[in-house]
Amino acid sequence: MPTPFETAWLAACADCTNCGLATQRQRVVISRGNPAARVMVIGEAPGASEDEQGLPFVGRSGRVLDGLFTSAGLDPDTDLFITNVVKCRPPENRKPTAAELRACRPWIQKQIEVVDPPLVVLVGATAVKAMLGSKQAMGSLRGVWIEEDGRSWMPIFHPSYLLRNPSRDPGKPVSLTLEDLRQVRDRLCQCEPASGAPTS
Ligand code: URA
Repeated sequence: MPTPFETAWLAACADCTNCGLATQRQRVVISRGNPAARVMVIGEAPGASEDEQGLPFVGRSGRVLDGLFTSAGLDPDTDLFITNVVKCRPPENRKPTAAELRACRPWIQKQIEVVDPPLVVLVGATAVKAMLGSKQAMGSLRGVWIEEDGRSWMPIFHPSYLLRNPSRDPGKPVSLTLEDLRQVRDRLCQCEPASGAPTS
């Protein structure tokens, strides 16, 4: 039986020309991970490695993010569905414009509708602003659940910020992010029975 991700909208997304980024990309970067996951991870936009491989978060930032999720007890391949608010690489890795975010909006909406995750991790300020409209600084947003649209949203620092602030000391961004992801793991454990446990 075809999975929801083998449907027509996926092919349309892979061929999207909704904005000017289509003319410069190598690939549309749609997702990686498990479409049946209970946790969706939403970042900003693909970089060079992602554009080359057609998968989100596979460059330096992705390695940092995967390492932190794994340390928090979440397996990126099975526990997470990973994507970005913008599916094509902005040149020179600049931030996506408001028009590009608007043009790409139908795809992230579709992904949320199909995956229907109870928990969403928002990676960095661009993803938070695009999904929830909040313009507050990440220092005050991170680590605090936001309940909206029937889902729980957890903003975390972007891994590019962690790469610039690599200290693992307590209270520093890396260690705070690990705390945030442990909150995600704990909440996932509360909404899911352990594998093999009875469901009723
Ligand atoms: N790679 C991605 O896929 N998204 C980001 O936000 C950064 C790097």
